[in-house]
Amino acid sequence: MPTLDWLGKKAVVNHHREVPYRLIHCDKAKSVGDPDAGNLLVQGDNLEALKALLPYYAGKVKCIYIDPPYNTGNESWVYNDNVNSPEMKAWLGKVVGKEAEDLSRHDKWLCMMYPRLRLLKEFLSEEGSIWISIDDAESHSLRMVMDEIFGREKFIASNVWQKRYSRENREAIGDAHEYIAVYGKDPLKFKNGRNLIDFTEEQSKVYRNPDNPKETDPTKRWRGLPMTAQGFRPNQMYTIISPTGKEHQPPEGRCWSMIESEFVKLKSQGRIYWGKDGNAQPSVVRYLSEVEGMTPWTWWTHDEVGHTDEAKKEIREIFGTQTAFDTPTPTRLIERIIQIATNEGDFILDSFAGSGTTGHAAFRVGEIQKKRRKFIAIEMDGHICTAVTKKRLEFAIRDSAELVGSGFRYCTLGEPLFDADGNVNAAVSFPDLAAHVFFCETGSPIPRRATGETPLIGTFQGRAIYLLHNADAMGVASTNAGNVLTGGVLDSLPLPEPGFSGARIVYGEGCTVPDDRLSRLGVTFKQIPYQIEGL
Ligand SMILES: C[S@@+](CC[C@H](N)C(=O)[O-])C[C@H]1O[C@@H](n2cnc3c(N)ncnc32)[C@H](O)[C@@H]1O
Repeated sequence: MPTLDWLGKKAVVNHHREVPYRLIHCDKAKSVGDPDAGNLLVQGDNLEALKALLPYYAGKVKCIYIDPPYNTGNESWVYNDNVNSPEMKAWLGKVVGKEAEDLSRHDKWLCMMYPRLRLLKEFLSEEGSIWISIDDAESHSLRMVMDEIFGREKFIASNVWQKRYSRENREAIGDAHEYIAVYGKDPLKFKNGRNLIDFTEEQSKVYRNPDNPKETDPTKRWRGLPMTAQGFRPNQMYTIISPTGKEHQPPEGRCWSMIESEFVKLKSQGRIYWGKDGNAQPSVVRYLSEVEGMTPWTWWTHDEVGHTDEAKKEIREIFGTQTAFDTPTPTRLIERIIQIATNEGDFILDSFAGSGTTGHAAFRVGEIQKKRRKFIAIEMDGHICTAVTKKRLEFAIRDSAELVGSGFRYCTLGEPLFDADGNVNAAVSFPDLAAHVFFCETGSPIPRRATGETPLIGTFQGRAIYLLHNADAMGVASTNAGNVLTGGVLDSLPLPEPGFSGARIVYGEGCTVPDDRLSRLGVTFKQIPYQIEGL
């Protein structure tokens, strides 16, 4: 498969492994409403934030939407639209090294995106999909690295969003669209699980009651659907006689869309329409109430999903000024994505949160459908995060009567789990380490928060995982501290269920039990921190 190369690539392809796992702190003072609503706003660089969230959300996110910097070369919005922000420069210098000085802005953009996309991939659930807003500045590069990271066969669609509704004269050919590239963890599962989109009133106008043009009842508004299909199927090639006695054969190259017995049944139910004079080729009567929705397509017009002016107007309405945030996405556009790709209770992740449109859209879809979604939003810029993202999410909650009792936790990134020498950091508590150990052992999030009351932290595919850990005796293997696997500790390890005979994996600071006894009992000992291997 063709792949894309750029300066600095070698330094970043495995960089996601080197990003430290950090603790996540919940800031109660900045959190809003019900902290257990399942929504998170995380302030921090998404590279570190994603890594920190992985042990809790890997494989659990149904829909990722991101709107990364487009790298258009526009320097006016320093964090947003170029890769020359101080943070990015420092990061590239550290990760790419001396070569970073020679990187073009396209190299830099790819270096920035690659490890982030690599981490995002780990969050997708089996039916999950990732939607990425992009324009022509980097869309070709994005598609190449997406093909490389996710797999070319995981590509679902490149939607064209009509962001502008009027012509502008600055360029030789006016730029009126952007793309939303979509990849799925498993495109077939995505297809089977995705939702249809609702008809707008405009689109449903074709469903009419000819006897009453003002009819609003969807059980009385209908349209005639052509009763032919492409190709030749012998049992769908019969003669049909209209009420006026006219004979109809399928048009050339086509057959009827159903076998004769089905047609006869529909005719007896009055579900066949023969045109005004009763003479026309038959069509099937379909009532508006029977239409589930439309299959999404790649053409996203501004009247259906909004345009950039609409997004700016939304910012003005919420903040009283348009300068609060320069590059918002219209809420309707993200609502459309959420509607297609998620259902009640699903997680939506946006790691370039900006003004918080994704969280706002998640609240809105939840309210419209009376089926809440949960979101995780990550924003690097501290000022934007508190003054814009958080405020907008508060607004979304206030604005909505239905969502009373909703809320979000405001989180920041804490210390790395491991210090510079690779030892577990003193600030790490039992639940934090348990979540991390479980994820590293299984690749899955811990099923429930481990409190430390029992060393059994969870089971996964027939394996029981144990953690012997005492935060006060970190780095010291001490039988008194209970962090060493002794014969006595081994005998007292609780089983997940009576008669459990699966493998048991025990993490601790030390072990005094001979290997042959461990293997006889199906127990594997792994030493902290050396044998904790994360992504
Ligand atoms: C184009 S804006 C997203 C706008 C968003 N779709 C909206 O509707 O408001 C990109 C955002 O990503 C943030 N960002 C850029 N790099 C980031 C990073 N490494 N980690 C987290 N956020 C980042 C920027 O501060 C900016 O707010």
